[in-house]
Amino acid sequence: MSAFQTAIVPAAGLGTRFLPTTKAVPKELLPVVDTPGIELVATEAAQAGATKLVIVTSPGKDAVAEYFRPQPELEQTLEARGKTELVEKVRRAPNLIKVETAIQDKALGLGHAVGCAEGNLTGDDEAVAVLLPDDLVLPTGVLTRMAEARERFGGSVLCAFDIPKDQISAYGVFDVRDTGDDDVKRVVGMVEKPKPEDAPSTFAAAGRYLLDRAVFDALKRITPGAGGELQLTDAIALLINEGHPVHVVVHRGGRHDLGNPAGFLKAAVDFALEHPDYGPELGEWLRERLGNS
Ligand code: G1P
Repeated sequence: MSAFQTAIVPAAGLGTRFLPTTKAVPKELLPVVDTPGIELVATEAAQAGATKLVIVTSPGKDAVAEYFRPQPELEQTLEARGKTELVEKVRRAPNLIKVETAIQDKALGLGHAVGCAEGNLTGDDEAVAVLLPDDLVLPTGVLTRMAEARERFGGSVLCAFDIPKDQISAYGVFDVRDTGDDDVKRVVGMVEKPKPEDAPSTFAAAGRYLLDRAVFDALKRITPGAGGELQLTDAIALLINEGHPVHVVVHRGGRHDLGNPAGFLKAAVDFALEHPDYGPELGEWLRERLGNS
């Protein structure tokens, strides 16, 4: 059995950085080439062994969960036209993973959002994965390495990136100790969005968490932190203080931030350049466009 069956994806935000589009379309459905970011994240969770995805959503964002429901009429129309490849694309998300929703009706922070999914857990969920849909971690597979670390050390395991110091205050930052394995570190403290001079290291949380179920109890005991919000980081810091083992797997690959238009565009261009139909022409156009700028 895999280290976790349930993956939680907090997706209740207003998507203000994508207004006015997000008046009508949730940010999680914006296409990276032709596939919504939420499907990329759901695929990653399923590949790591999750069988259930709990999307934490807010009233009015039903389209995110709707995306994972089958559309038999569309499938029939495409089939009748012989569009087999398109039928496969349309079926991909509904066949990927069982999707449930949890409602977060007040924007009280990431910690609060994760806590909203507790009612979706079963007695079998000893640990849960949390994937922030703004973060694409590439290549995928880090959750599997995190599950291996949980097997070795117990407790909770997070994904860390080594981030330039001048950008560190956008993140949850780890105070770490070596374990003898360069890619796995023990976490002795964690702080949300510190000033660069107060940051305990340059290792930052990058949107992938494998959390022992104990986190739900800690989430009930935290008070508003950075930005006046209930922070997941503070619940993890509380667990660390209480002796719960927390480790990070340092991911040395790539990462895209889909949470703002500039980061989203980089991800879209990166994926499009790899796409057999669009890549070659886009590459040529980009070279020409940049050569002329
Ligand atoms: C959240 C977390 C932060 C983490 C970051 C990763 O912050 O609170 O600890 O480092 O995601 O992207 P947000 O980006 O939602 O402000």
